[in-house]
Amino acid sequence: MLSAALLSTVHLFALAIGLAGVVIRWRQLRRLVTDPAALEPMLVGDNLWGVAALLWLVTGLLRAFGTFEKGSGYYLSNHAFLLKLGLFGAIFLLELWPMVTFVQWRLRKAKGLAIDTSRAATFATITGVELALTITIPFVASMMARGIGFTWFS
Ligand code: HEM
Repeated sequence: MLSAALLSTVHLFALAIGLAGVVIRWRQLRRLVTDPAALEPMLVGDNLWGVAALLWLVTGLLRAFGTFEKGSGYYLSNHAFLLKLGLFGAIFLLELWPMVTFVQWRLRKAKGLAIDTSRAATFATITGVELALTITIPFVASMMARGIGFTWFS
């Protein structure tokens, strides 16, 4: 089915876009602690990370609950899938504070107002944890896709 192949492709491209974005954001936040010129590239990384999150969510939910893959019964009874959603949820919870703050930074920047970047080191640490969690997900996803993980938690 071509639509299933397209969803799978976009889901995998999201991984390339997301990893590039979160690595750029992490590195530029560490640089921002001492160098204000890191703000622009940091926000570019943040944009890529945001686009990837939307692509994962839309293509992932269509693949899990639509008719494109193995059907919701398979995924909802697969503990690897539940773990994957848990990891994705943990990343989202960690992301709430930096996400809201970076939106405020963009609004202040657009108005030509000064931006308080004193939390850059903290946001770099949070982003580093998100990067580590993101790297674990493809391992869990590959096991989920191959029928591993139905009895992990029972
Ligand atoms: C709401 C979030 C997500 C949902 C509902 C979701 C759902 C799915 C589904 C249904 C598949 C197809 C599995 C199969 O072939 O049976 C899949 C594959 C995959 N997902 Fe996700 N996904 C989500 C987020 C992510 C994220 C954040 C990543 C990476 C960081 C990711 C990485 C992958 C990979 C690498 C595969 C291919 C696995 C393989 O065929 O070996 N997904 N996902």
